[in-house]
Amino acid sequence: MTLKGLVLSGGAGTRLRPITHTSAKQLVPVANKPVLFYGLEALRDAGVTDIGIVVGDTQDEIEAAVGDGSALGISATYIRQEAPLGLAHAVLTAEEFLGDSSFVMYLGDNLLRDGITALVDQFRRGECDALIQLQRVPDPESYGVAELDGDRVVRLVEKPAEPASDLALVGVYMFTPAIFDSAKAISPSARGELEITDAIQHLIDSGLRVDPHEVTGWWKDTGRLDDMLEANRLILDVLPARMDGEVRDSVIEGRVVLEEGARVIDSSVRGPAIIGAGAVVENAYIGPYSAISPGVTVRNAEVEHSILLADSRIEDLDARVESSLVGRGTTIRRGTERPRAYRFMVGDSSEIKLA
Ligand code: DAU
Repeated sequence: MTLKGLVLSGGAGTRLRPITHTSAKQLVPVANKPVLFYGLEALRDAGVTDIGIVVGDTQDEIEAAVGDGSALGISATYIRQEAPLGLAHAVLTAEEFLGDSSFVMYLGDNLLRDGITALVDQFRRGECDALIQLQRVPDPESYGVAELDGDRVVRLVEKPAEPASDLALVGVYMFTPAIFDSAKAISPSARGELEITDAIQHLIDSGLRVDPHEVTGWWKDTGRLDDMLEANRLILDVLPARMDGEVRDSVIEGRVVLEEGARVIDSSVRGPAIIGAGAVVENAYIGPYSAISPGVTVRNAEVEHSILLADSRIEDLDARVESSLVGRGTTIRRGTERPRAYRFMVGDSSEIKLA
């Protein structure tokens, strides 16, 4: 069975503002690699290489990062969705690309430790009309929630106030073309979107077979800051050490990736951590679970459990920067001027916490 891939990389990204005011949420790096790339690689590893990428306002940026997909071992076709009108709407937008092929739909901000090969293999056995992935979570009200009867899916509800189970819908689904009729049959939800959850419920109500597939390894929807930091932690935990940069008068402990052209001077770095190409760490401390993007400067400062995006600067601070996500080209530094005062030039929807 030839399968196509559909990766959703449009949407608004409201929960990661202000980063997503200027940049696609699927391109925020986890361990210095865009979230979206992990998904594209998971599809490739499962043998799915003909991939449609649904894009919205951030199309140019996504295209600049992924290109024709050849560097990632896939072939990418871009499909423009005129507005983020829901996951089922995105499927309908891609109808021409998908044709009569069965397909994997992958939400571009989802990350699964063990990839999707087991899921794709189960679907290739051809026993069902749709296959959904489930994982038990402590906060099911934040997700689509499934109810099972034995090993059959009987009911799906999108972000219910009172969840009937703790089985969340993971953002990777397998469909036959039967999904198109269901996506056309449903109406927009209370939040104004055509929900894929409702379309799958419609498949069930039409007598088609929807099977569950339980995800055993960890899974993260990186739509919120805390989830993004946790995903960063989980990936850094398994990243093999590499020392391609320059280290001078410094102590490096634990598993650290130092990319070519990165410089660590008079500093202490405690892994797991990654320091990108051309970054400068000087008279500083980089603690566990830090991802320092290319071109960043950390000088006379301490950073731990944080993601610093490209070309940001952290300088001359006397408290440690912790559990933070710092946008591209941002500078955080202590000034020497009197009177001492906080001085900001901060973008929309930013959050600054001073202890
Ligand atoms: O992560 C799993 C959850 O994903 C599921 O449990 C839910 O059932 C499912 O509805 C979805 O919920 P979210 O509210 O997290 O979806 P979000 O709006 O974040 O969109 C997921 C991805 O799809 C994201 O990369 C943006 C993209 N997208 C979203 C919409 C609404 C599009 O490309 N087009 C769209 O119209």
